[in-house]
Amino acid sequence: MARLSLTRRLLKIFHPEGIPWIGTVFYNALSATTLFQRNYDVVAQDILSYGSEGSILDIGTGPGWLLVKLHQQAPRLRIIGLDTSASMVAKARKNMVAAGLSEEIEVKEGNASQLSFADNTFETVVSTGSIHHWKDPIGGLNEVYRVLKKGGNALLYDIVSDTPKPVLKEMARGYGRLKMMLLWLHAFEEPFYSHKAFEMLAQPSLFKAGRTRFVGVLCCLILRKGGGDA
Ligand SMILES: C[S@@+](CC[C@H](N)C(=O)[O-])C[C@H]1O[C@@H](n2cnc3c(N)ncnc32)[C@H](O)[C@@H]1O
Repeated sequence: MARLSLTRRLLKIFHPEGIPWIGTVFYNALSATTLFQRNYDVVAQDILSYGSEGSILDIGTGPGWLLVKLHQQAPRLRIIGLDTSASMVAKARKNMVAAGLSEEIEVKEGNASQLSFADNTFETVVSTGSIHHWKDPIGGLNEVYRVLKKGGNALLYDIVSDTPKPVLKEMARGYGRLKMMLLWLHAFEEPFYSHKAFEMLAQPSLFKAGRTRFVGVLCCLILRKGGGDA
């Protein structure tokens, strides 16, 4: 059974889970850059390759850019973003207004470990760059399991600490080494999981097992509710 390392458990005691106000200003600006926006496009495309109907929940949505990309590529999808940081939720709502999508896209305040949705609500649950911050990742995954419909997918994207060299090389070719370093900046704040530890998070959860693959620079943990494992 996978356990969180001692360092990670200690960091989780002292580190705030949701991005505090000053962080939201910085992250909102950073994530508006072409580097991040291109990445959201790629991730949205990947998510929609699993299905573009029904309802989707994005946990730890941050400024909500992924929600905009999902709507642009699948306008019929019901899209909800959720974040535990009140100031991040305020930023995301502003961004939805600026994109003219405040009616189409809902952004709610809430935590992965206690989702305010009924059982079997969503076809898909996603999250990008957030799970390494969750204080209770297994509890969060169990909540994801609960709110997913049977046969639904959870697609959890995050950077891992040991990204394979060929993936890094490919990304550096596309983005440039300097910009790539930006992506690693906030790893100093709270470390990413290793590839193996990320995959192993599924084991003690209700999903029991999952598999991973790389989508650009992000590692995607793919979990399926019912109908066999991912
Ligand atoms: C690095 S940002 C990523 C934001 C966005 N998904 C993106 O890819 O740009 C991580 C976000 O996860 C949120 N977060 C952290 N722990 C959370 C939790 N347990 N439940 C919900 N949101 C959480 C933080 O407040 C922050 O906005």
